[in-house]
Amino acid sequence: MRGPDGGGDPGAAGSASSRETRSAAIGTSVGDPSGAPAGLRRADLSPDPIEQFGRWFAEAEADERIVFAEAVCLSTLGPDATPEGRMVLLKDFGHRGFVFYTNLESAKGRSLAAHPRAGMTFHWQPPGRQVRIRGAVEPVSAAEADAYFASRPRGSRLGAWGSDQSRELDRRATLEERVRRADESFQGRDVPRPPHWSGFRIVPDAIEFWQEGPSRLHDRFLYEREGEGWGRRRLYP
Ligand SMILES: Cc1cc2nc3c(=O)[nH]c(=O)nc-3n(C[C@H](O)[C@H](O)[C@H](O)COP(=O)(O)O)c2cc1C
Repeated sequence: MRGPDGGGDPGAAGSASSRETRSAAIGTSVGDPSGAPAGLRRADLSPDPIEQFGRWFAEAEADERIVFAEAVCLSTLGPDATPEGRMVLLKDFGHRGFVFYTNLESAKGRSLAAHPRAGMTFHWQPPGRQVRIRGAVEPVSAAEADAYFASRPRGSRLGAWGSDQSRELDRRATLEERVRRADESFQGRDVPRPPHWSGFRIVPDAIEFWQEGPSRLHDRFLYEREGEGWGRRRLYP
């Protein structure tokens, strides 16, 4: 499932060549008469960035060279306003926003309580694409979090009870003992969602699509909310 802009370097995955060499290889093929993809054009993009994200995400998911299409760097501001990033998994997206789940008392949970805004940065290689999302953050509903939590394997659900995410741990055995105790206390019944575990939704006010191009002449389109709709601008790379 590739759009007309679908780019890429089919030989890149697992190749020993350096990133520079790979970029150069892309450069020689981009827009050439062999049918290799040209750059990203405005006409290739949906006027709706959520729909556009859906297209690229579906392509990344369908590409077996990409292991975790849903892995994304989540950026937040710490309580002292220091930027901090870490990977999370995108669990849902749509016109309401982009959802991930975590421990509410983790460093990120506390950061979001202090500064309820965040960024998400996806990178899919191949085909050399980046998507950046930023916006306000809101909690998902309890019903939504319950439904997602219930879909997780029992071991992950027990882990959510056992882990004081981001707090100091004296030794691994303590964690394992906490998980064992949780397992014992939920023996013979479903593991419920802990009160300190839920999700957040980033409601985007800006989404940027970046497509790798030859000689660092990449294509970038930035969508920003304008009233009920979205404005769209091309940016220098
Ligand atoms: C690929 C990948 C996916 C991850 N997904 C999640 C996730 O969905 N939720 C989460 O809380 N942590 C996830 N983690 C762990 C976080 O990166 C991080 O270590 C943890 O959430 C603690 O972060 P914090 O101390 O900044 O709160 C993931 C790590 C990796 C490498």
